[in-house]
Amino acid sequence: MKNPVLEIEHLRKIFGNFVAVDSLSFDVEEGSFFSILGPSGCGKTTLLRMIAGFLSPSDGVLRIRGKEMNSVPPNRRPVNLVFQNLALFPMMNVRDNIAFGLKRQKLDKKTITFKVDSILERVHLQGYGSKQVAQLSGGQKQRIAIARSLVLEPSLLLLDEPLGALDLKLREQMKIELKKLQSEVGTTFMYITHDQSEALVMSDTVAVMNKGRFEQIDTPRELYSNPATSFVAGFVGETNILPVKVISNNPLKVATLFGLELAGVTAGETTKAKELDLYIRPESIMLDPDAGLQDINKFSLHIQNILFDGSNTKVLATIDKSDTEITVALPQSSQFAHIKKGSVVSAGVHADHCRCYARG
Ligand SMILES: Nc1ncnc2c1ncn2[C@@H]1O[C@H](COP(=O)(O)OP(=O)(O)O)[C@@H](O)[C@H]1O
Ligand SMILES: [Mg+2]
Repeated sequence: MKNPVLEIEHLRKIFGNFVAVDSLSFDVEEGSFFSILGPSGCGKTTLLRMIAGFLSPSDGVLRIRGKEMNSVPPNRRPVNLVFQNLALFPMMNVRDNIAFGLKRQKLDKKTITFKVDSILERVHLQGYGSKQVAQLSGGQKQRIAIARSLVLEPSLLLLDEPLGALDLKLREQMKIELKKLQSEVGTTFMYITHDQSEALVMSDTVAVMNKGRFEQIDTPRELYSNPATSFVAGFVGETNILPVKVISNNPLKVATLFGLELAGVTAGETTKAKELDLYIRPESIMLDPDAGLQDINKFSLHIQNILFDGSNTKVLATIDKSDTEITVALPQSSQFAHIKKGSVVSAGVHADHCRCYARG
């Protein structure tokens, strides 16, 4: 990596005999938006607390801007942490909340005023300085919590599920705001979440974490289209999973339990197992595919239900004569307006979009 702000080598954390963070090694590029995505309990907060210095590692090395941090106390590390519950001081107004860390650094009044004003402008809350925290909306509190950390100009801003407490609509809005804010200020963000949509939308790089380990570190696009493991394929984005048996290797040909054969499928990971799981994304399934298309696995779909959701309308359908149900993303084109519950349509999926993994 050209310019890592954070370098981690073989970092481990053990509680009793439970391994919460298992020998992680990775770098975070200066100025990037780096997310750690994983289910609850996989070790995200534990990792972040080690980076912030609130927990000491059982093993491994941690460097920020090339300087080893293991023996540096939290208040001396060039990082700031934003929690889900924000931890704003309710008795102070917005300005005093933001100025708190600067006062502790014993900066002069003029500098503090200047810095607070600039950061309020950055988070689009100029004029809010004298408001009490209780007078702010959820989204505004969020921005103040982030402003309070950013004003200290950390090398690395750590965010622990900061949108978790917000309702869906506000979360959608804040995702976009946070992404914009990060690219405007250029501070490296390390963002942890169990919400794959947050991670995909905002990040330059996402590390997918499972049971204390990283399964894949990649761009959102690569994670989605080339998941390295069954865990990543199942956790990132929506997918259909069909159990299959291997008929032949090179090229890989498989058959579902109800006898549908699929040729030229991709092995998502190397395995010698004879029984695999086949992953197909809902949007990879074409309805009424052109007869001339090459490398297409074809079948018919019996439409069971249409789940209308505006631009994301989906179809639940069974394949051929089986009772195996799959989800298909319905293209917006009016060409598919005739598709109704009970219709039978021809369907196909390109071999490249059929990916097999060892059974998870
Ligand atoms: N202080 C602790 N003592 C014992 N176990 C802990 C402690 N902190 C976290 N754990 C355990 O470590 C695992 C990872 O926790 P955590 O890092 O909080 O996960 P996440 O943030 O991904 O939800 C969990 O199983 C949790 O119960
Ligand atoms: Mg956590």
